[in-house]
Amino acid sequence: MTMTDTAPPARPEIRFEHVSKTFGRVGATDLFRAVDDLNLEIGSGELVAILGKTGCGKSTMFNMIAGLLEPSAGKVEVSGHDPFAQFNWFRGKIAIVFQNDRLLPWRTAIENVAFGLEMLDVPKAERMASAQAWLTKLGLGGHENDYPHALSGGMRQRVSIARAFATNANILLCDEPFSALDEMTGNRLREEFARLVRENGKTAVFITHSINEALQIGDRIVVLRRPAKIAYDTRLGRDADHGAKEDIRARIQAVLAE
Ligand SMILES: Nc1ncnc2c1ncn2[C@@H]1O[C@H](COP(=O)(O)OP(=O)(O)O)[C@@H](O)[C@H]1O
Ligand SMILES: [Mg+2]
Repeated sequence: MTMTDTAPPARPEIRFEHVSKTFGRVGATDLFRAVDDLNLEIGSGELVAILGKTGCGKSTMFNMIAGLLEPSAGKVEVSGHDPFAQFNWFRGKIAIVFQNDRLLPWRTAIENVAFGLEMLDVPKAERMASAQAWLTKLGLGGHENDYPHALSGGMRQRVSIARAFATNANILLCDEPFSALDEMTGNRLREEFARLVRENGKTAVFITHSINEALQIGDRIVVLRRPAKIAYDTRLGRDADHGAKEDIRARIQAVLAE
């Protein structure tokens, strides 16, 4: 059974309709089901944490939103388009932050942030100004000309967040971007990330396997059970107090223990 206390969003930006994804595996005759009949609507401007144990299908789901994987059955729709079939339509409309920062080692911080804009043919002066502004917002003023190897893990992840925001994409997709960072660095970045998403009116999907991270990031938390199917879906409310969060934590723990 799916527990849910969320009303459907007024304007869905991301929609899964009876989506399944199966993989063939070497040496096996039957297909492996990573996502099973998933239905989900994410509204414009929502900041949603997708929470589930390792191997439950989070990245598979993520890759279908990003248009990197095609569903085996059902339909994925993002901004009214098919992210896999209409991949090129999404150029500049979706920005991605991965667990590994994926910076180009031969480019400085500012050149890495400007890279996404270069791909979108934004003129040089404009892209450097935008890259500079986002680096400053993320507290990296003074590090513009540093190469990735000279930056700490937290700083490199700040550069990749700046790169995502600089493209001006309306949809941000993050697959466990802070899980390799130490707790304090991760906490600060989570807070800053959530603030920037809200201030800039982005729609953001944030994948995580950590209950703490989901509670810290999401206005809404969607808990997945393996194979990816919704086990619990709840909205926190911006002013959720400690008690309310602890209630939600207890319910998530119960759902994940089933
Ligand atoms: N390309 C693939 N081929 C075969 N199996 C895959 C492939 N991608 C993912 N899987 C399997 O699907 C399941 C879900 O994987 P994934 O979406 O990466 O989970 P998560 O991100 O939640 O850890 C795992 O059991 C994984 O081994
Ligand atoms: Mg994953």
